[in-house]
Amino acid sequence: MIKYIDEVEITNKKVLVRVDYNVSFKKDGTINDDTRIKNSIPTLQLLLKGNNELILMSHLGKPKERDMAFSMKPVAERLQTYFPEHNIVLIDDFTTQHTQLNHVVNKATIYMLENTRFYEGEKKNDPIFSKQLADLAEVFVDDAFGSVHRAHASTVGVASFLPSYGGLLLKKEVIMIKKVIEAPERPVVAIIAGAKVSSKIGLIEKLMSIADSVLIGGAMTNNFLKAQGIEIGKGLVELDFIPEAKRLLDLAAAQNKHIILPIDRRIGQQTDEASEPIVKKVGDIRVDDETLDIGPETEVLFADVISHAKTILWNGPVGYFENPQFAKGSIAIYNAIINNSSAVSVLGGGDTLSVVKKLPNKDKITHISTGGGAMLELIEKGTLPGLDALDK
Ligand code: 3PG
Repeated sequence: MIKYIDEVEITNKKVLVRVDYNVSFKKDGTINDDTRIKNSIPTLQLLLKGNNELILMSHLGKPKERDMAFSMKPVAERLQTYFPEHNIVLIDDFTTQHTQLNHVVNKATIYMLENTRFYEGEKKNDPIFSKQLADLAEVFVDDAFGSVHRAHASTVGVASFLPSYGGLLLKKEVIMIKKVIEAPERPVVAIIAGAKVSSKIGLIEKLMSIADSVLIGGAMTNNFLKAQGIEIGKGLVELDFIPEAKRLLDLAAAQNKHIILPIDRRIGQQTDEASEPIVKKVGDIRVDDETLDIGPETEVLFADVISHAKTILWNGPVGYFENPQFAKGSIAIYNAIINNSSAVSVLGGGDTLSVVKKLPNKDKITHISTGGGAMLELIEKGTLPGLDALDK
């Protein structure tokens, strides 16, 4: 069983905290969305209340080596705004700056290590690197739910060297997601969308064992339509995976589950924000049509299924949401979810969060996950390397 920090007493210790501060940036270099930073605050506050000294670590982006374009500096600066009473100090290279870290003289200081991916040992889950991290502290706390699907030194390796606990964000995420997959109130509806079906086959298969209906949107619709011999136009399709899509449709039919596909679609051009999209029924789509969203009839169909659900799970915008003309389907799904006040609703994934970010009434969603890949893998596999590492 994982022990979480509110179930044990951690006081007067040096605590190494893995957070997921892998935030997105705007073109001007400022942080686009700091939800992940804000959501880590309760864990940091609880540990500070116990008079602990904190050393934070996270990855940021996918640097291949030390590259200051991926520095944690803007993240440290943003965290500083939430902890005005503390001094956030970024440690450029903890392997050479031992002295500074080993002589914490002022508990008002919160240390943050530079991007863990600046070190070769991180992604290899190298035991020597893991030990170097562990040597910084007496206790390890993992609050990086968004990264628990990665078996890296900072998420897995370090836990074998220190007493290890889950943070409050991790706890909330795991409890909410497990509730949906292990004991959901029925009917359960899952809305799954995205570009590629190949990466979500295992997930859809798992969802069919949990959900009563699986609503499909986005470009992955094309695989399912093509598997039924329906013209899909110019949209993305993974020809190698058409047999898999066919298998999933057959499986659903055999299990008396419903994979519900769009019945109409919006057509246009990705970059054209001025023209109203053309709406066509699925059977009327022609070879040169570019399908970029579900259509209004599908919105009504999906909303109806969502309105009867007691549990709703949503990952992936159903259209090319970057162009507002093709964000309409995803917004309709969001509205259907928030209008069903009697259902437990869980949504997650980077693109899904981008769609809902500016929409009102987010408090009507039961849980908005900070994990994209982590949420999906937890649903699919039931556990994850970073969680197993804490369960000892
Ligand atoms: C995420 O944003 O999904 C997590 O921070 C994991 O990032 P990664 O895909 O670069 O490992």
